[in-house]
Amino acid sequence: MRDTFGREIRYLRLSITTRCNLDCVYCGKAACEKRATELSPDELGRIARAFAACGIERVRITGGEPLVRADVCEIVRIVRQNGDFSRVSLTTNGVLLADCAEKLAQAGLTDVNVSLDSTDHHVYRKLTGSDALRRVLGGIDSARDAGLSPIKINAVLMRGVNDDGAEALVDLARREPIDVRFIELMPFADPAETARLRVTGEELLSRFPFLEPVGALEGTARYYKAPGFAGRVGLISPVTRKFCADCDRIRVLSDGCVKPCLGFDETFDLKPWLSDPAALEQAAREAILRKPAGHDFTAHAPRPGLNNTGG
Ligand code: 5AD
Repeated sequence: MRDTFGREIRYLRLSITTRCNLDCVYCGKAACEKRATELSPDELGRIARAFAACGIERVRITGGEPLVRADVCEIVRIVRQNGDFSRVSLTTNGVLLADCAEKLAQAGLTDVNVSLDSTDHHVYRKLTGSDALRRVLGGIDSARDAGLSPIKINAVLMRGVNDDGAEALVDLARREPIDVRFIELMPFADPAETARLRVTGEELLSRFPFLEPVGALEGTARYYKAPGFAGRVGLISPVTRKFCADCDRIRVLSDGCVKPCLGFDETFDLKPWLSDPAALEQAAREAILRKPAGHDFTAHAPRPGLNNTGG
């Protein structure tokens, strides 16, 4: 279905938990041990069905960190059963991925995005508070072995913190059939500090002049390659190149509230209608119609952590 600005909404991001096993510096992991408000696989299935009826074609399961839920495979299976989705994807920090990549694929997961901001153990620990880098890299291998495809890596660069690791990340795209995507830091902490830390897509391109654009905008990313690259380098620029006019997504938070736009605090609770499929579908439609025209990250006050919204 189309929203009030004529945008076709096709893509549901379904957060299944606010819990996370990492503590990344830019996330602002606030009170996020809210297991009590998490929906059951069955409830998530009903929400998937309601959005499928609204024309949603693909689903991404997010968190928090979705793999901290022991029933994540059941969730994937039930989402699959509740709509004829072209893809059911997952965004993860990869820490627990090695243990469950195969089971996720069997449950019907098609592909994964792995958040990885550094391939240096010391920097990784500083950014995430954890020594899990080796497990994450193992998780990426397991995802590939399980046939999950495509595999994408999402990295957020921060000036003077991990931006000197950009080359090693670009090198991953050279060596492996993986898309390595750099996401501009969004203002989820002090806006002035965020602006100082942010490395824009343009700046990154100027550091890698050998990268050539390939294809048109794909979703939110522009892709680049160089001769001999097995994968691609992607730039996602929510701050300097807003993609609101093409936004095709709707988010559901882990407590069953729809968040029509990542840049606004407004939410729309679906829980009252969970036991009535027709009412739930109507509520999903209304939530889609609440999508604002766009966000302005430069004008907004600090926002709570992305752990609530799944990025
Ligand atoms: N700016 C940009 N990206 C962010 N992410 C988390 N916080 C921010 C931020 N402030 C990214 C994570 C992950 C995705 C879910 O969101 O790195 O890739």
